[in-house]
Order: sequence, then C-alpha cells, then structure tokens
Amino acid sequence: MTRSKRIAILTGGGDCPGLNAVIRAVVRTAQNVHGWEVYGIKQGVEGFLLPGGAGLVHLTRDDVAGTLTRGGTILGASNRCDLFAVPQEDGTTRDMSHRVTRLFDSREISALIAVGGDGTMKMAQRLNQQGVPVVGVPKTIDNDIQGTDRTFGFDTAVGVVASAIDRLYSTAESHHRVMLVEVMGRDTGWIALHGGLAGGAEVILIPEIPYDPELIAEKVAARAEQGRNYSIVVVSEGARRPDGAPVYRIGGDEGHLVDRLGGVSYRVAHELSQFIDLEVRNIVLGHIQRGGTPSPFDRILASVMGQHAVTLVDDEAFGNMVAYKSGVMSHTALEEVTQGVRYVSPDGDLVRAARDMGVTFAAADGSDDWHTDTRRAHGAP
Ligand code: F6P
Repeated sequence: MTRSKRIAILTGGGDCPGLNAVIRAVVRTAQNVHGWEVYGIKQGVEGFLLPGGAGLVHLTRDDVAGTLTRGGTILGASNRCDLFAVPQEDGTTRDMSHRVTRLFDSREISALIAVGGDGTMKMAQRLNQQGVPVVGVPKTIDNDIQGTDRTFGFDTAVGVVASAIDRLYSTAESHHRVMLVEVMGRDTGWIALHGGLAGGAEVILIPEIPYDPELIAEKVAARAEQGRNYSIVVVSEGARRPDGAPVYRIGGDEGHLVDRLGGVSYRVAHELSQFIDLEVRNIVLGHIQRGGTPSPFDRILASVMGQHAVTLVDDEAFGNMVAYKSGVMSHTALEEVTQGVRYVSPDGDLVRAARDMGVTFAAADGSDDWHTDTRRAHGAP
C-alpha cells in the first residue's frame, strides 16, 4: 500500500489574525484535492527542537473545524527562536537547522509551508537553500513584506485602529483635547497611514516621513482657530525626528533594553505640549491590534493564500512565497522577499491623497508644504 504524501505547516513569529484560516485552508485543500496528510509544527520553529518528533502533530479536518474565525494560531507561536543560532547552556549558539531534515526524513514529510513574517521568510529561504522544499506564506499586521501588496492580518489591525479613533473622537471633542493614538507597524507606517485615513485623523506620523512637533502644533492650532479645538494624531510606533532614533521600550521579562518598539507617543505628547495650550493625551493600542477574530477580508485572503501554497507545493515551485499582487494571487521568489522590508513611499498615491485632503504628516523636510504650494500653483485653494 502506498502511503499518501505528507506535508508540514508551521506558523512562525508573532501571532496574527488569519493564521488559523491559512492552516484550515491548507488542511482542507491538501486533503480534498490531493489526498495528502498535513502535519503541524507546534510552537513555531521551537517544535523542530523537541525530542522524538514531539513537536509534530497530525492535523485532520476535524482539528481545523471552527477555526476560520479564531484569532491566534492553534499551533502556537514563538518569535524568540532562531533555528540557525539556538542558545546553548554554555552561552554559545548552535545551528540546529539539521533537525528539520532529520524530522522530515524520519516522518517521510516532503515539503514545508512556512507561514510568517520577514524573519520566518529568511529562515525559509535558508532552509530551502539547504535542500528543504519550502513554500512561504506572508503574515503580519505590519504589511511590510517585500514581494506582496498585502499580508493577512493587516486589514484586521487597520479595522481596530479605525474603530479606536471613532471612539476617541467624541471624548477628544468633549474635552477639547489632542489625542495621540500610537499604533504598531515596526519601521513602516502602513497601519498608521491606513488606520489614520480610515479614522479621519488630522495628523499621521510615520517612520518614512520624520516629523517636526512644531508642525503638529501648527495643524492643531489651525483647527482650533476654525472652532475645532480637538484633534486626533495617529503615531506609528516607529515614528522619529529627523535626527533621532525610534523609541524602544524596556522589556518586562528580559529586564533590559530589547529590540521592541513602543512608547513614542509619550515623547510626542511631551514635545507637543511645549507648543500648545490644549490638553494632550496618548493611547497605546498595542497588541489589541493583533488579537481577536480576523476581518472578513483577512479570512478570505488567508484562506486563498493557504490554498495557493498547496498548489505551489503540488507544482514543486519551492523557494517561493505566496504573493497577492495587483489583485492576483501569485508568488515571489524568497530570495527577493528577503532583500528588506517594504516601506510606505513618501511620494506614493495614498500619502498624496491624504495631503490633498488636508492631512499633515508634520514632515520635517517641508514636504507637506511643498505639496500644498505645488497644488496652489496649479490653482488649488
Ligand atoms: O510585527 C508585528 C508586531 O506586532 C509589530 O507591529 C510590533 O512592533 C511587534 O510585532 C511586537 O512584538 P511582540 O509581540 O514581541 O511584543
């Protein structure tokens, strides 16, 4: 009797709404279309390190039933483990990537679907170079992965930001306050830009356009002169001054400075209050943006990405990541994906649209003004 083909799936890095939808789609497509068995790797790449294949779990249709709408990942996630540099007791690190081939050989698994962000895609690329047949699926609320226009999780996060702003408007207006809403996104401003536009924010600070606090104050004052003595300012966690570094927070459990952004809105609040009389408050939305049920858009995107990953495995198109480009599901070489993150273009359509509508990025380089002047020269009011 011939054994059916077996494939594995892992969810690497932090969790993100839509991960379960991908797992579900992979299990269902693999079984329905090809009759393959699917195995999940528990707890991200940490599952490869568990002895005796304990990190491997057989996933049946029953296991994924009812998971489409669930946030998080049924497989567990970890964003601390680097398979190529696993810390040892003596303080050194060791490359443990051979564990993948060992596990796959012993369990006759022929391919890996790696769902994750840029870190996971880098790992996938290296494993693929070592001969492990890998297909990537891009996940992150940050929407910053090269080679795809969209990652699942982003739409859900933007929805959270927009509804938070909706709620903050009424309290900002009642108290005549400036509300700073700090959002995630690491070194890119996708969540801030989309969330700010969806929520109708007046000021949006993104890492790609270093800000000047005096320009935020100018905007707030101009609104107050028009009788609107309240404002919403969306602050991307990676926002920075032209000469300054982003703000990192002290890790709780680690007890030392970790490479984790957060807290810049406290700094912006302090800077802004030097220039205005209105009260300033800041709200850090944090992991609320990553939790809970995925939006309908993300459920569909994640499902189709999972289905497409199985198709790529069937086509033996390894070394690629599923990609959604110009409205079409296709793929991009992992080699290209791992070249760096995808930034918001300061000259892009969405930034221009925002500026045309009077939104300011408080651009320290004067690009907001330049834009307004250019528009005026063309007859705009
Ligand atoms: O990459 C997703 C993300 O949520 C970023 O927006 C944020 O900076 C980071 O992860 C937070 O990581 P952690 O969950 O480890 O605090």
